[in-house]
Amino acid sequence: MGQSKENDQIFWDSRENIISPELVEERIEEMNETLLVYRSAIKEVKTKLDILDDELKIKRKRNPIEYMKSRVKTPSSIMDKLKRKGFEMSIESAKKNLNDIAGIRVICSFVGDIYDIANMLIRQDDITLIEEKDYINSPKPNGYRSLHLVIEVPIFFSDHVEPVRVEVQIRTIAMDFWASLEHKLYYKTSGDGPLHITQDLKECAELIASTDMRMQDIQRKVEKLR
Ligand code: GTP
Ligand code: MG
Repeated sequence: MGQSKENDQIFWDSRENIISPELVEERIEEMNETLLVYRSAIKEVKTKLDILDDELKIKRKRNPIEYMKSRVKTPSSIMDKLKRKGFEMSIESAKKNLNDIAGIRVICSFVGDIYDIANMLIRQDDITLIEEKDYINSPKPNGYRSLHLVIEVPIFFSDHVEPVRVEVQIRTIAMDFWASLEHKLYYKTSGDGPLHITQDLKECAELIASTDMRMQDIQRKVEKLR
């Protein structure tokens, strides 16, 4: 059973003291409550993206967003990441140190749509841009491409407002195709693979990127015909 396997794990705090399984359980429960906050933030940001998509459908006669996926990190995955990065294993520490407890992946049709959507989102008054990583203009050495934003959005509850951080990864269908398969093959598994496989994957990423550029060119030409 997954439950008993989880209890068998040993956790440490930042001073290397062992945390009892009971305390870990307690923290995971507290965390479930906190995760509600992050689920709300995902709803908020997804709605903003839906509205932009609907508006552009009318204005440009074309949806820039193909689809979206979202997830809230599980308590055990949060704990694992805190431990891996050497942070204290508490909710406060997770809120402070992790930017990707709430994550949204936005899959766009064309490369240009990625920047349009990102800029329209960042421009909104209630959104604060915390971090931006452009792995499209500067792909990762393995060939990974995507635009990553960490934004903060205020969430209104019955008696208080809470600023909540959300990681938004924006990419084309082609970039998502590569990243999904590469993730299955490598990412965060056994680390680096044999060099020829790494090079093969990178070549695939470049082929895909040049196809993305051609599709973007075709789209612009089609646009001019209208
Ligand atoms: P972590 O949050 O610890 O992963 O480090 P970071 O904040 O420096 O990560 P970064 O913003 O570069 O990437 C965060 C997320 O992007 C990951 O959790 C993945 O979802 C995705 N990602 C980043 N690099 C790769 C990659 O090489 N391959 C794939 N498939 N996904 C990646
Ligand atoms: Mg990250």
